[in-house]
Amino acid sequence: MTTRTGVDEPDAVADPDAGTASRGAPRDPAEPDILCQGLVRIFSADGVEVQALQGLDLRVDPGELVALVGASGSGKSTLLTILSGLDRPTGGSAVVAGTDLLTMGRRERVRYQRHAVGFVWQQTSRNLLPYLTAAENVAVPLTLAGDLAAHERRARVDALLELLEIGHVRDRRPDQMSGGEQQRTALAVAVANAPRVLLADEPTGELDEATSVEVLEAMRGVNAELGVTTLIVTHDPTVSDHVLRTVQIRDGRTSTEVLRRTEVDEHGSERHVAEEFAVLDRVGRLQLPPDFVASLDLRDRVRLALETDHVGVWPDARGRDDEGRRP
Ligand SMILES: Nc1ncnc2c1ncn2[C@@H]1O[C@H](COP(=O)(O)OP(=O)(O)O)[C@@H](O)[C@H]1O
Ligand SMILES: [Mg+2]
Repeated sequence: MTTRTGVDEPDAVADPDAGTASRGAPRDPAEPDILCQGLVRIFSADGVEVQALQGLDLRVDPGELVALVGASGSGKSTLLTILSGLDRPTGGSAVVAGTDLLTMGRRERVRYQRHAVGFVWQQTSRNLLPYLTAAENVAVPLTLAGDLAAHERRARVDALLELLEIGHVRDRRPDQMSGGEQQRTALAVAVANAPRVLLADEPTGELDEATSVEVLEAMRGVNAELGVTTLIVTHDPTVSDHVLRTVQIRDGRTSTEVLRRTEVDEHGSERHVAEEFAVLDRVGRLQLPPDFVASLDLRDRVRLALETDHVGVWPDARGRDDEGRRP
């Protein structure tokens, strides 16, 4: 992994590639770290098919911090389980950190899960081993990787605990920590082996509002300091306050995106601007926001017109009565 910020870091964190560089594909800044195209996942249970992902497109570039927001049942966990290498998609393509998730074999999968991606799950209990202290939990992935000598491992654990501001829980077990401390420890575990991509499924789902903010800011800190490409999945729309890019998932597809930026006006004062975009897939499909559809009563078909700098969308007025209703 390449660190793309000029921020001072503790030594052990500053060289996250130590011992791991030979295994990962080199990072090309022009290549996305996550690229899903037409991703499909169909579950069949008791003869009933559920299309959890229905042709999902998503591109996340190196170093980006992106929130994927959607209602319960929209396919968020299905996507993250695929991206973390625990489940295989039914169709489409998914390439993460240079690894093709549809074709990877068993050995590749172990390497991928150990080095290329880190994850944080909603259940704090799923992230940490209950009988180990914070420091011991962070050391587990380093020991499994086997790249560092014992003293280097201790230095790396200390640097990560310091980065996540949890040095004070170093020798405590999870049941002796607050929910926020547990999730920050989970973050340290997730980035211990310097993955290119960090995935988090509802990481604040079990936390109160103030603690959620603390954990989201910790994720933002890890993203900025280590340059790890980060995807946070959540049903909580307030997460978008903490990130520059929020992608909306609806019925197993990405539908709209909100990009936030800071503008400085002629008097030098800062202004936050949020702009909403629709996601256009490879074959030119897009999803109209439900409120647009409702307010013009768009149904079945619409008329499109190409103008010099935009495309117009009109309801199909044919065959409707004076109130716009269809017989
Ligand atoms: N293992 C499974 N078997 C059958 N259906 C599933 C399975 N996992 C998820 N689903 C269904 O897929 C859809 C998306 O679920 P999920 O990805 O968990 O949504 P979210 O995380 O956004 O709440 C839901 O309709 C859910 O019931
Ligand atoms: Mg979920």
